[in-house]
Amino acid sequence: MQFTILNFDTIDSTNTEALRQAKLGADEGLCIVARQQTAGRGRHGRVWSSPKDAGLYFSIVLRPQIETRSLPLITLMAGVAVHETLAEIGLRPDIKWVNDVLVNERKISGILAETTDSAKGLAVIVGIGINLTLANFPAEISDTATSVESELGHTIAAADLTDALTRNIAKFYDVLNAERGPREIVLEWQNRSSYFSGKHVRVVLEHEAVTGVTDGLGSNGALRLKLADGTLMTIQTGDVQQIRASQ
Ligand code: BTN
Repeated sequence: MQFTILNFDTIDSTNTEALRQAKLGADEGLCIVARQQTAGRGRHGRVWSSPKDAGLYFSIVLRPQIETRSLPLITLMAGVAVHETLAEIGLRPDIKWVNDVLVNERKISGILAETTDSAKGLAVIVGIGINLTLANFPAEISDTATSVESELGHTIAAADLTDALTRNIAKFYDVLNAERGPREIVLEWQNRSSYFSGKHVRVVLEHEAVTGVTDGLGSNGALRLKLADGTLMTIQTGDVQQIRASQ
């Protein structure tokens, strides 16, 4: 994949800009990086706090040729690429379904995948936020989040992390696009996530919450959950929370 990186000092949201560029026909591999976002977005309409130089704020335009049913695996592929990138700098990350990357059980990175139609066909925008430092973050975030600086004792230049991230996205996107790619990405994800199976969790769905034990992923990345009565539930979208023994 050929990368073109557009750097911004301040932007509303790198995902919003990548969506705009994709609609205008941007090629696969266009990356938007900003030092600060004024309207950073998280999953489920949440705000992604984006103070200046406190995080890597990155979005990439992809134009996948895979089967429609495998599109959710792009999010898992991105989680694997972030995991690999953070492992390379000496961290021991974990991935919480579907795409929260944690270190020491605190969130260090989030991924927001969005799609748009364009004259060139479907584009998928993968937005990635990685916390570099917790300085300037609101207190309620620093309670549940962590950062490269908090974990390593020093921060890493955003440009270096961008290089490593694009290299790993290219690597695992190639894996996804290869024969048996969907299965390989699920395996890569499985090897990097303590949430894959046997984890006691509560999953917040759109209108209810369910508890159970994780029981692997479906072939398109859906989470399988074994409920107390033994039935197996397949979850396509939801927020997973770990249940600790004392809860
Ligand atoms: C989440 O965990 O809720 C997903 C967070 C995704 C944040 C990134 S930061 C770069 C890109 N631009 C955005 O507005 N959001 C994503």
